Amino acid sequence: MKNRFDTVIIGGGAAGLMCALTLGTAGKTVLVLEKAKKPGAKILISGGGRCNFTNQDAGPSNYISENPHFAKSALARYTPWDFMGLLAAHGVTWHEKKLGQLFCDQGAKRILSVLLDECEKGGVKIDCDAQVNNVERDTSGLYHVSYNETVVTADCLVMASGGPSIPKMGATGFGYDLARNFGLKIIEPKPALVPFTFADDDLAFMKPLAGVSADSVVSNERKTFRENILFTHRGLSGPAILQISSYWNKGEAISINLLPDISDTAGWLLEMKKAKPKSQLKTILGDQLSSRLADALMVDESRPLGEMANGRLAAIADKLSKWHLTPTGTEGLAKAEVTRGGVSTDELSSKTMECKSVPGLYFIGECVDVTGWLGGYNFQWAWASGWAAAQAIAANKNH
Ligand code: FDA
Repeated sequence: MKNRFDTVIIGGGAAGLMCALTLGTAGKTVLVLEKAKKPGAKILISGGGRCNFTNQDAGPSNYISENPHFAKSALARYTPWDFMGLLAAHGVTWHEKKLGQLFCDQGAKRILSVLLDECEKGGVKIDCDAQVNNVERDTSGLYHVSYNETVVTADCLVMASGGPSIPKMGATGFGYDLARNFGLKIIEPKPALVPFTFADDDLAFMKPLAGVSADSVVSNERKTFRENILFTHRGLSGPAILQISSYWNKGEAISINLLPDISDTAGWLLEMKKAKPKSQLKTILGDQLSSRLADALMVDESRPLGEMANGRLAAIADKLSKWHLTPTGTEGLAKAEVTRGGVSTDELSSKTMECKSVPGLYFIGECVDVTGWLGGYNFQWAWASGWAAAQAIAANKNH
């Protein structure tokens, strides 16, 4: 078996496959080592099987990183339109679901098949079931990667092994371990895009509402998101909660406005009191919220609006528009859609993803400290960073 390659890529997910197909197309010899039985497992389950493959509005402000400028260069050079161009060339079609989120009409399998077809065209070799045992860089700068019973050698090594979220799908912290072995700094990895858990007193309210969702504004001191929240048996989930979770630290409170279309909730309740004094509050709220939620919120309040004191209405308005909650934690890496943190961007060139201190070593995708919002942003980072690394490797005559 040929054991000399221009580039070895560890991880056959979104970023690794994009990097591989770009290098293959540029005439480089590439080996992808994938630990799982098949490549692209997270692509297949993404977007409920429809793969939210990009966000047409993706920009640096949709990403979390210690260095908010780091993602700019790669995102500007490989845009959502570039990825759409690749799909269009394969006859793939898509639609916008909401908020710029693009989903594949033919499903996630088709996205993966485009990437694999392009890899095949470029002569990329993909070895699955690959157990990488050791990685060494010799004094001449060549990389020697031992896996299973084989040792392969390459000019460049690209780490595309993702983050440790959803370990039952085979996700690992391998990229971080390798980075540490090369003396690189890691920003503490934490679960992101993850549901919140709550203490028993909050749960007593939330549990009976499991399955109910509500269009809400969820905020903390740093960020505000408007989308649905979803009550669950363990606490709160839904897009707005997942988004704010990426900006949350243990012990912090979040605030939820359950009536985001009403700018002055207290004033609105007073108007309703005048206009409909015989109505119950839960009936009025039922026009704005699901009736299960309105009933649960007003369970202690059976008086008609006209009999309720203005002070009581003001307190209820506060609860509806500024519901302060302190999660006890999150559902952790087991349920987190992504991991924030990772290989510090201080260590990498933002143009090429190459390590500043270790020539020929690249980090791309989720293992880097760049984490996207919910809504196609994470795949866009995987495509853009994978492409950026491949461009640099292909252009470097020493490799
Ligand atoms: P990714 O995790 O895709 O790939 C890493 C690969 O490396 C894996 O195949 C893994 O098996 C392999 N690997 C790990 N350790 C290894 C080792 N030691 N040796 C060899 N191989 C190794 N994002 C988005 O933009 N839109 C969406 O719709 C969704 N939906 C979604 C749903 C769910 C349920 C999850 C969990 C995540 C999403 N995401 C998403 C996030 C998205 O899946 C994620 O950001 C990208 O897959 C990251 O791409 P990477 O290539 O960096 O890692």
